[in-house]
Amino acid sequence: MTRTMLVLGIESSCDETGVALVRAEGQGVPRLLAHALHSQADMHEAYGGVVPELASRDHIRRVVPLTQQVLEAVGVDRSAIDVVAYTRGPGLAGALLVGAGFAVALAAALGRPSLGVHHLEGHLLSPFLSADPPAFPFLALLVSGGHTQLMHVQGVGQYELLGETIDDAAGEAFDKSAKLLGLGYPGGPALSRLAAFGDATAFDLPRPLLHSGDLDFSFAGLKTAVLTAHRKLGPNVCEQSRADLAAATQAAIVDVLVAKSLKALKQTGLQRMVVAGGVGANAQLREKLGAACARRGVRLHYPELELCTDNGAMVALAAAMRLQAGRGQASEDGAFDVRPRWPLAEA
Ligand code: KG4
Ligand code: ZN
Repeated sequence: MTRTMLVLGIESSCDETGVALVRAEGQGVPRLLAHALHSQADMHEAYGGVVPELASRDHIRRVVPLTQQVLEAVGVDRSAIDVVAYTRGPGLAGALLVGAGFAVALAAALGRPSLGVHHLEGHLLSPFLSADPPAFPFLALLVSGGHTQLMHVQGVGQYELLGETIDDAAGEAFDKSAKLLGLGYPGGPALSRLAAFGDATAFDLPRPLLHSGDLDFSFAGLKTAVLTAHRKLGPNVCEQSRADLAAATQAAIVDVLVAKSLKALKQTGLQRMVVAGGVGANAQLREKLGAACARRGVRLHYPELELCTDNGAMVALAAAMRLQAGRGQASEDGAFDVRPRWPLAEA
């Protein structure tokens, strides 16, 4: 394939509506032309978490204007789109259906094919849009609100799961601990802001499964330990103690993520690593993992900060790279489904 391909990507798996346009020239790394995003975080904050029905309704309101915004930013007519990609799963069923339904309808109206992609594949390929793109093979640490996984990535569509969380995801641990500390939703950024003023050694929190010998994670026990520590502090907890507990929580999560990543690097012998998903935006994780990888001569790659959390660019990119690799079947029959639960290794 040597021709130019314009791929529109639609993300709607959770609480962000994302739309983006990428251009792929032959086998070259696709380029991001424009992306637009609407986060529903403010809307869900009042409820302390994502309300699926509200999420679906908001995706419906946002997806068309965001698509128009992207096309206007690039200055192309929608008839120039070659493929319309969407997140097929995993995620909230109703939310996924909005993006998939819109994408397939738009594709049909344009007489173009559509392609559903895996949300986590989008996350793990997203560093290809950065100024320092990786090369295959690499180790991927996927740390989002719903997933914590270590994957051996051989190439596009070649993903081997090495280990994953047996209960809460790392992002969930951040979010739930933040909620206990009375911080808003999503909790990760808020908790890490508070942690900056705290002393991580003030509390001795567990590092679950640190020495389990495998590459699995567990964060549910940590959340319970944070709850117990917070209760002990009582209702009139001072600001410094809250900051200390936030710092200790962040340190416990980061320690486990770094230790297991290093173990996976050793086990696989891989020399490159990608960190993707919302928690990949965490400054302490970047600092600790960066230092550990530098000591071992491992090249570490991240998506651009604004593409760490959910976005349409990673969806368009994953579809473009699938098509370039001959590992994606774009469909023109107007039929589609979504897969709220979908292991990446099956994608
Ligand atoms: O990848 P993502 O946007 O959505 C999912 O696919 O889940 O990840 C969202 C998660 C949330 O749990 C959020 O609290 C966490 O990423 N997060 C962070 C930071 N920014 C986002 N966690 C820690 N530190 C951050 N700076
Ligand atoms: Zn995500």
